[in-house]
Amino acid sequence: MKHALHLQPRCNRLLWVTNAICTSSTGRNCSTISIRLGYTMKTIPPPLRFAIFSLAVCLLFAASVSIAFAQKSSKPAANHSAAPPPLLLGTAWYPEQWPEARWEADLDLMQKAGIHFVRVGEFAWSTMEPAEGDYHFGWLERAIDEASQHGIYTVLGTPTAAPPAWLTQKYPETLRTEEDGRKAEHGNRQQFNWDNPKYRELARDIASRMAQRFGHNPYVIGWQIDNEYSQVSFDPQTRADFQSWLKNRYGTLDNLNTRWTTAYWSQTYSNWNQIPIETKYGNPGLLLSWKRFVSDTWRSYQKNQLDAIRQYTAPRQFITTNMMGWFQGYNHYVVAQDLDLAAWDDYVGEGHLNPYKNGSTDDLTRGFKQKNFWVMETQPGHVNWAPVNNDLNKGEVRAMAWHNVGHGADAVSYWQWRSALNGQEEYHGTLVGADGTPVPLYPEVAELGKEFTKAGPALAGTSPKSQVAILHTYGSVWAIDWQRHNKNYDPIAELLSYYQPLHDIAQSIDIVQPTVPLGQYKLVVAPGLNVLSKAAAKNLVDYVKNGGHLVLGQRFGMKNNDNGLQTERQPGPLVPLLGGRVEQYYALENPVAVTGQFGDNTSKLWAELLSTSSPDTQVIATYGKSNGWLDGKPAIITRKVGKGSITYVGVWMDEAGMAKLAQWMTGMSGVNTPLANVPTGVEVDPRYGKNHTVFILVNFSSNPQTVPLAASMQDVLHGGPVLSVTLPQYGVSVLSEAKQ
Ligand code: GAL
Repeated sequence: MKHALHLQPRCNRLLWVTNAICTSSTGRNCSTISIRLGYTMKTIPPPLRFAIFSLAVCLLFAASVSIAFAQKSSKPAANHSAAPPPLLLGTAWYPEQWPEARWEADLDLMQKAGIHFVRVGEFAWSTMEPAEGDYHFGWLERAIDEASQHGIYTVLGTPTAAPPAWLTQKYPETLRTEEDGRKAEHGNRQQFNWDNPKYRELARDIASRMAQRFGHNPYVIGWQIDNEYSQVSFDPQTRADFQSWLKNRYGTLDNLNTRWTTAYWSQTYSNWNQIPIETKYGNPGLLLSWKRFVSDTWRSYQKNQLDAIRQYTAPRQFITTNMMGWFQGYNHYVVAQDLDLAAWDDYVGEGHLNPYKNGSTDDLTRGFKQKNFWVMETQPGHVNWAPVNNDLNKGEVRAMAWHNVGHGADAVSYWQWRSALNGQEEYHGTLVGADGTPVPLYPEVAELGKEFTKAGPALAGTSPKSQVAILHTYGSVWAIDWQRHNKNYDPIAELLSYYQPLHDIAQSIDIVQPTVPLGQYKLVVAPGLNVLSKAAAKNLVDYVKNGGHLVLGQRFGMKNNDNGLQTERQPGPLVPLLGGRVEQYYALENPVAVTGQFGDNTSKLWAELLSTSSPDTQVIATYGKSNGWLDGKPAIITRKVGKGSITYVGVWMDEAGMAKLAQWMTGMSGVNTPLANVPTGVEVDPRYGKNHTVFILVNFSSNPQTVPLAASMQDVLHGGPVLSVTLPQYGVSVLSEAKQ
């Protein structure tokens, strides 16, 4: 705005100033207005022109002063470039918990650690609006501004996961009701009812006021709505809304009664208002419907704030929320639809990083939007909520962050910068201690900060690209969990038993819904895809007929989209394509022997007795001696379909067996290993750009490992070409290979 003070009595200056003020006050370029103004000036006689000009200068000066006050944060910061860097390191910062005089010291330490952004505000409602209608955003603006002076951007969280006491006192109807009928109280967080209209009105109000204030702030790069959606409500209004949702979905009670087979146990409904909420032991159609209602209600809860924010923000500001990996509370695909990018909170809790578990969760999150994602929170060393809150080992925090990046994270952010001096999480890991000075982990994170800045340009525009997809739906996981049939049958563990050996070979796996386009994959694997919609079945049949290789795992296609039994037995509508089916399933007390294509192995927990009905369906593994029913019967069958194939795996083998199965699946489908000759324990994650590939290597084994390269690559972190790299435990290498 300082330019407004240096006016010359010339029309083009006036145009320039008009445009500058207009742009900074609205965030948009107003050249049309200024061109029109310039044209009008030229048509007026010179003396009058000068008088008008003087008046305009005064007005513009007044406007510029008031805008300068209103937009104090728009002054340029020392280290800012126009756009945030492509790879970001961040931390959750709670300026509202500290005297403003302390901010400078914290931000200085953050800057020294190479922190690129802070996430701020997500629990600060009582500071933003201490009494109803009394809004205080000045402190937040000052915090954003001061951060920007240190070259640090801000992601703003809407504070709706922690409504203030005045709100819950004045509007007790906004409190959620637990399943046992108790009302939640103030004193913790997430006490609100996600379905309550009054709460939505209040949430929309605070979100839209924040957006009006910060929607064009140059240092605010994005928004997080609420925080870790999880708690739902069982109050009478929510139940009535669920019943309306059912009416909308099923149309008539006759239809609902048929599809849920309510004649069973006299469950037939003659009025919508008779339908209860069940979460564990109800009719399977009812259970699945409740979860779908919960998911849709989270989506509309989120949309309420999202629309309010979108109305006032610059398009460059993204909107996301922080999800929780494999958390089963709602269908994340449904909720992610409206977001610009997906993000998750990555906590190991007790123990140490399991690269397959963590990497698959990254891949799951990447699958929500089928693009790169953010790790919005991760642990700086330890948490405070696990049975044993051990620290990650020295070097493990850095390895974990790079591992996230290898799987497609474009940002990793630590929760939190410094513990509040009181409050429920005093013991949680931080980057500075209660005295405000760095903890021992700080230098490791500072190293990451430098590395992220250095590697950003090489990683810009790159993302994982997989040859293999593992299919997953929330409905299937819920359905198996409600009726495990063997208490130890964990559907996520079954999925991971495929993921692990396949990742070792393909070095990158997509986890996606069965309804997405599959043509790009050489191999598609569907373990535990229990609930199968007609659309998904058709997509899979088309994939095979078009030359794809499809492998179905245990419990595939047993259920229809209402969680009822498919009448073909497994794999439901894919029986004709397979030329075979499941004759019977057996929950196992002890593992049973399996022999054939993959050597001698066992199936644990579960075994499916298969049969073939088509002469070209081959049996490639059979059961050994077991319960009599399974003895000598088919355990794995496969059939070629044109250039493609379909295989049914009725067993869940141990690691060695699954590794052989993975060799076979990738071999027959032509999946290759992007970076060959990598020793066991070193994970390789390729990210592909237009003209180059970046390989991120992390050594998770306890010994140093050397990775020889077939041709020289650029060492992104240390510079220069390399022909091999040696990595200590938790060592990381980032290598860039130009496309041939
Ligand atoms: C997350 C939550 C944070 C903090 C953290 C502690 O689930 O979003 O606010 O509580 O856990 O690990």
